[in-house]
Order: sequence, then structure tokens, then C-alpha cells
Amino acid sequence: MGIQLEHRSILAVDIEGFGRLNRTDPIRLGVHQRLRQLLTSALEQAGADPQHYRLADTGDGFLATISPSIPKPRLLDPLIPWLTEHLDRANRRASQAEQLRLRVVVHAGEVLADPDPNLGHTVILASRLLDAQALRACLAATSAPLVLMVSEWIYREVVEHHYGSIDPASYQPVRVTAKETDVIAWVHVPGDPDAVQRAGVLAASAATRGPYPGLEAFTEEDAGVFFGRQAEIALLLDRLHPALPRQAHRFVAVIGPSGSGKSSLVQAGLLPQLGQRRSRWLIVPPLVPEDRPIRNLARSLAAVLPDQQVDALATALVGGDAGALVACGEELRAAVGGRSVSLLLVVDQQRSC
Ligand SMILES: Nc1ncnc2c1ncn2[C@@H]1O[C@H](COP(=O)(O)OP(=O)(O)OP(=O)(O)O)[C@@H](O)[C@H]1O
Ligand SMILES: [Mg+2]
Repeated sequence: MGIQLEHRSILAVDIEGFGRLNRTDPIRLGVHQRLRQLLTSALEQAGADPQHYRLADTGDGFLATISPSIPKPRLLDPLIPWLTEHLDRANRRASQAEQLRLRVVVHAGEVLADPDPNLGHTVILASRLLDAQALRACLAATSAPLVLMVSEWIYREVVEHHYGSIDPASYQPVRVTAKETDVIAWVHVPGDPDAVQRAGVLAASAATRGPYPGLEAFTEEDAGVFFGRQAEIALLLDRLHPALPRQAHRFVAVIGPSGSGKSSLVQAGLLPQLGQRRSRWLIVPPLVPEDRPIRNLARSLAAVLPDQQVDALATALVGGDAGALVACGEELRAAVGGRSVSLLLVVDQQRSC
């Protein structure tokens, strides 16, 4: 039958805080028009004239499907440095409400040519990447005018090969989980190489460690390569961090036979995702009770409590009733920002068979 596939590069762009209250509709219209002009000029820098692409308006951004005749490296360089510089220049002159900061995604793959070239899995993945919490966190962590995320495909086929002045070392792996999507993607923040680290979304193990920890449980560091537990993670998140905060469970048990993956689920699945939640979580390093539960509890708490000695804390916890632990919790919340912060203490006996 007549379904026609065509290869396209995708450039997707979203304006940060388009709906912000300090923007009036005329300002939004101006910002939108300015972005259209900037993108058209940036694409021209990459060698793409309007006949080479289709620019769809997505409301708070644009999605360009670009002909494969435009070499993909050019979409990263010179397009991204050019766009960064011109955004920066325009922002300096603009009022705060008129400033433009962008999340940008570059991907490529097959799209359905008829009836609409913006249809199919390639465009869906680009949209998921553009919407990724990790990318939002990177933009929030930097003052750079744009953050770029490229798909694994673009990273392997283009970035890794050092075309032009593209530097693979300036791209950092992050994990993107949303709806049916669970992938690694790569973030580049022009002029601010530490932004991904500061945003706390770096999937370090994807780049620096092997994909399997052997017989050990997966840890938070392995989040980028921990797969297959999305349903269980969603269930745990739903218990601890439901849409309605008053429905949150105070105690959640993860029960299963030894070796079924409980520690891995909590450490490489739950903890990294909780850390990305908007209302902040303070996660105490997992407590392994062993045969000295109070002392080990003190050790976990002291790791996050400012100016606390393990010995003094252990003595307070032994001597006091549960009140001593509650007081520690309050002290911790006060230290990191107050009552809106939730505290999570993971207790994992490890190899408890
Ligand atoms: N999602 C996963 N994909 C691949 N391997 C996994 C996954 N989850 C766990 N494993 C592996 O399975 C083994 C057991 O995992 P883990 O230590 O997390 O289990 P556990 O239920 O906590 O066991 P125990 O009760 O003995 O502490 C480990 O080798 C771990 O690397
Ligand atoms: Mg375990």
C-alpha cells in the first residue's frame, strides 16, 4: 500500500516559560515571531533554504523537518553556536518578559511523507526528548540561552565523529523516561559544560562504566542503564509522590525473594527519579542496619546533616525515643529549605536471605 517513508532530520525547539505571567499576549506574539526569524536564519547558516524544510508551529515553539540533503553535522555546528550567539545578543537588549531561552532537540529518522510529514515514531521521540524533565532541569541550572539534547542516534552517527568543531566531550548522557519512552540522550549546553552535572541528571555510568554491575545490585550511578522496571518504579512513585500530596504513603515496603532486584529497583530506579521531582526530596543515603542498626542509622543521617558527628548522633538516637529521629528529620528539612521538602530514608538489609 501507499505509505511513503522519508528520512528527515528533526530540529525541535521550545521556548522556556512561554506562558509565564509576566508575558502579555502581544509580547508572546513578538517572541514567537522573533524565534521564527532566528530559526530561519539559523537554518540558512546550516545551508538550508525554506525549500529544504517544513517549519511547523507548535504553539510555544517550532518543529522543523529537514531534508536529508542538508548534512546533519551542520545542524549542530554552525547552527547551534550561531543560534546561541544571536539569542544572547538579542536577550541583552530585551526586557525580562521578552527574553528567549530555548530547549532544542536534534534527532533524525523516518517520517511518514503523506499526508503529514510530522507523523511517526521519529517525531514522537523528538517531542519526548524536548519535553524531558532532564532537559528542563539543565535549562534551569544554567544561564546559557539554550540547551541542546541530541538523540542517541545523532550522538553515535554524528557527534562521536568530531565533524567540524563538534566536541563529543561537551555532550553528557542523561536518561529520559516519559510515557513509553525510556532512552539515553545527550545534552550539550553551549559555554557551560558543567550544567548537566549541576542539574543532577547526569547518567554517568552510561559513559564511564559497563552496562551491568555483575552480581552487585544496580546503584544510583547505574540509573542510565537500568531498564525493565518502569511499571514498578511508577508504582513506587505513585505511593511516595502521588499527584495529591495528602495521599502519600509514609511507609512503603518492597518485598520479594532474594535476588529478585529489590535493591536495584529502589537505588537505580526510584531514587534517581524521585530526585528529579519538582517538589524536592531529600534522600538520606540508604541505611544498611547489619548488626549495628542505630550506629548505621546515625552514619546515614550524619552524611546529610550539617555539623553532626556520628557518635553524638548515635548516642542521641539510643538515649532518646523516636523523638530524637523526628528532631533529626526536622533539622534536615530546615537545612535544605523547609517544610515543603520530603525526607526519604531507605532501609535495605542487603543479601538478607
Ligand atoms: N532491571 C534489571 N536488569 C538486569 N539485572 C538486574 C535488574 N535488577 C537487578 N538485576 C540484577 O539482579 C541481581 C539481584 O539484584 P538485587 O541485588 O537488586 O536483588 P535484591 O532483591 O535486592 O536481592 P537481596 O534480597 O539478596 O538483597 C543483581 O546481580 C542485579 O545486578
Ligand atoms: Mg538487596
